[in-house]
Amino acid sequence: MSVHAPRALVIVSNRGPLSFHIADDGSLVTRRGGGGLVSALGPAVAGSGATWIAGAISDADRRAAATGVIEAEGFEVRSLTVDPDDYRAYYDVVSSGALWFVHHRLYDSARRPRFDRHWRRAWESYRRVNAAFARAVVDEAPADAIVLVQDYHLTLLGAALAAERPDLRAVHFHHTPFGGPDDLRILPDEVGIELLGGLAAHAACGFQAPRWAAAFEACCVEVLGRPACPTFVSPATVDPAEITKVAASEACAAAVSDMARQVGDRRLIVRVDRIELSKNLLRGFLAFEDLLVERPQWRGHVVFAAFVYPSREGLAEYLAYRQEVEGLVRRINETWATPEWTPILYDAADDFPRSVAGLRRYDVLLVNPVRDGLNLVAKEGPLVNERHGVLLLSRESGAWSEMGAAALGLNPFDVTATSEVLHRALVMDEGERRDHARAVRALAGSRAPADWVADQVRAATPA
Ligand code: G6P
Repeated sequence: MSVHAPRALVIVSNRGPLSFHIADDGSLVTRRGGGGLVSALGPAVAGSGATWIAGAISDADRRAAATGVIEAEGFEVRSLTVDPDDYRAYYDVVSSGALWFVHHRLYDSARRPRFDRHWRRAWESYRRVNAAFARAVVDEAPADAIVLVQDYHLTLLGAALAAERPDLRAVHFHHTPFGGPDDLRILPDEVGIELLGGLAAHAACGFQAPRWAAAFEACCVEVLGRPACPTFVSPATVDPAEITKVAASEACAAAVSDMARQVGDRRLIVRVDRIELSKNLLRGFLAFEDLLVERPQWRGHVVFAAFVYPSREGLAEYLAYRQEVEGLVRRINETWATPEWTPILYDAADDFPRSVAGLRRYDVLLVNPVRDGLNLVAKEGPLVNERHGVLLLSRESGAWSEMGAAALGLNPFDVTATSEVLHRALVMDEGERRDHARAVRALAGSRAPADWVADQVRAATPA
């Protein structure tokens, strides 16, 4: 069910609901855009008649953009083309390479970041791309529309929209965690001030969890020197109908049979993640190895299936991280495998039905990010799992504030404690597992995607 909005709705995000590819015969092929933002927003606004303004990311996207507005799934997508060098600097250098790192606290601060003149030129690109998005909204938004601006790529739209289109009501929703004042002070002074001022120029700013809203408010007071705009907290959610449809698909059934052959009657730990520094894949595998060392009864009797998919490969940090993760998996498998048993099944194929097959079959779902705005896998898993599986959830994820009442918590930095909680989940008796699974499922399905978008709409139009 899509959201009902009292006025016309405009969504603005870097990655849009559709991505394009050029087929071998030169024709344009449309696919659904990937990632958490799109999978949360797509079902909620489909059918609402909303206009969705998104960046043209690839050459194929740029070709599609040249054809004008594209209609799909009940919304109109307007793909915005900017200069490719500006786009790269805005996306790779500033958005993924700096803002993502600041909000997730990923810097190895002895070495990075280095805000030099090259970086400042990239910040100018970020400003230009934000100005281009603002211009597109100014030109396209129907009178009195509600504008929902999404995420850290687009922090600077508020002031331009207020100046040029005072009829619009723009709110900003941040999908990531928000860094505290000490984190934001890492950015060059003038950048931190412009960024926070840009966010505060919206009618309201929304966050996935109370911690992130509080951090933004503290940053405004301490770094900007004035109170924030109104804030609201509204966690994104999964559409149960969408994920159930994938779970019931033939592709998913085939993957379940495949997995049954590989796993047999062993216990199964599953993770589903982008290959992403904040997702903490390394400590997850180290905790699993610790389990094999300390609890020899599990050797040969448990499999860890990791369904992961490559991400942001334009960044050296991500390529290096992937190599480190794959090297560790190889080393653990070489150390512990037997002719009958492979301890870690590592699959980087980016195959959603296969990931959902893993979610149907898990006995334990490991969600251990070092920091995460929300984490949708923590909701997707309980909605489709068929084995009274146990959810292990990082206390540093935004989802913890919603799901922590029922999930087993973990400190993502503590490998020993993660190994202990893996063991605890694996030995839970059937009755306890059933109660646990019922409780996490109820929390995961307690809100619909339309509720989440309705909260953003309400924040834009206070009574
Ligand atoms: C994840 C995050 C979002 C972010 C998106 C960007 O889904 O949860 O906060 O907007 O990644 O991913 P991208 O692949 O576009 O860099």
